[in-house]
Amino acid sequence: MRTDGAQLIGSSSQMLELKQEIQRIARSDAKVLVTGESGVGKELVAKAIHEHSPRADRAFVAVNCAGLPETLLESELFGHVKGSFTGAYRDKPGKLEVADEGTIFLDEVGEMTLRMQGLLLRFLETGELQKVGADRTGRVVNVRVIAATNRNLQDMIAQGQFREDLFYRLNVIHFWVPPLRERKEDIPQMIDHFLKRFTKSNAYLVTGIEPDAFQSLVDYPWPGNVRELENVIERLVVTGKHEHVKVEDLPAELRQQRGVSLRPKRERRRTVADDLFKRMAEDGESFWTAVYPLYMQREITRQNVRDLVRKGLEEARGNYKIVCKLFNMDVNDYKRFLNFLRKHDCQLPFKEYRQ
Ligand SMILES: Nc1ncnc2c1ncn2[C@@H]1O[C@H](COP(=O)(O)OP(=O)(O)O)[C@@H](O)[C@H]1O
Ligand SMILES: [Mg+2]
Repeated sequence: MRTDGAQLIGSSSQMLELKQEIQRIARSDAKVLVTGESGVGKELVAKAIHEHSPRADRAFVAVNCAGLPETLLESELFGHVKGSFTGAYRDKPGKLEVADEGTIFLDEVGEMTLRMQGLLLRFLETGELQKVGADRTGRVVNVRVIAATNRNLQDMIAQGQFREDLFYRLNVIHFWVPPLRERKEDIPQMIDHFLKRFTKSNAYLVTGIEPDAFQSLVDYPWPGNVRELENVIERLVVTGKHEHVKVEDLPAELRQQRGVSLRPKRERRRTVADDLFKRMAEDGESFWTAVYPLYMQREITRQNVRDLVRKGLEEARGNYKIVCKLFNMDVNDYKRFLNFLRKHDCQLPFKEYRQ
């Protein structure tokens, strides 16, 4: 069973290196961990490895470890026997069994519970499938394992949220796929590629993009990476009112960076994080008085704090010491601040904000 062609577009030095590396390691059976922000192409990389491997004619089976509650994920991976839980009307093979002789892709592996991590580790060590509700271990399967995550597993290990032994099992070969904004040379080629794909049917008016609009697409920082670019191009093609897309046809985020905003500014509603950020950066309040008590009293959520930290890191170009200053804390508070973020899982990988 072949995948539908994992063609990695892009000829930036990073992409070329990645493609070479894929060719080099595909023939081995080594486990691979693919990391990078959401939408950078981690799954596509996994498919490309599979396609270049001797297993290419067998199944490539993807499992999203984040999408399912623990018990369902267990049965999804390992299968279950009839009657093992409500709704288990018949024996069902797990994805690991379906992927036998092929490749299993464990997406968002960082979201697995610790118990699931334990089950996965046991499987990786023995290759034996323990179906849900079965009293004996089942058959041994032979799968190549590729895992992916957008989380920093080493941070998670430090916080006791990810098993170190599992990390070392999965991380035999590591691929990091850089965000699109760090390989802008790839964007023009990708635009052409997606444009061709979405206009192929001739069902739409759009056939091309005017140079100004094209430039806006290249300049935009693409926080959602290739997935966002792909979606924007599709939307432009499907909803386009001119044969060649004009700047005015672009989504608001893209128009605004050129100062040709057609809609009134301040369109984006201020978020909780925006307000808190302003209270500190502009009104001089400290993190300990403006944010900390609200969070401890659950008036604001962890996500609010994470968004706030993200804003800080963007402003401080990835330097937590400067974030600490921006949030009006004393230098002596730096350690306490980092500890707080770590403990409450609000620490973001600073590297992504370095420029
Ligand atoms: N280099 C690339 N060339 C062509 N398409 C890509 C590339 N990288 C990502 N894509 C496309 O972008 C979308 C998101 O990629 P995906 O692999 O699902 O990202 P991730 O798993 O990192 O979130 C998919 O539709 C994928 O085909
Ligand atoms: Mg993905």
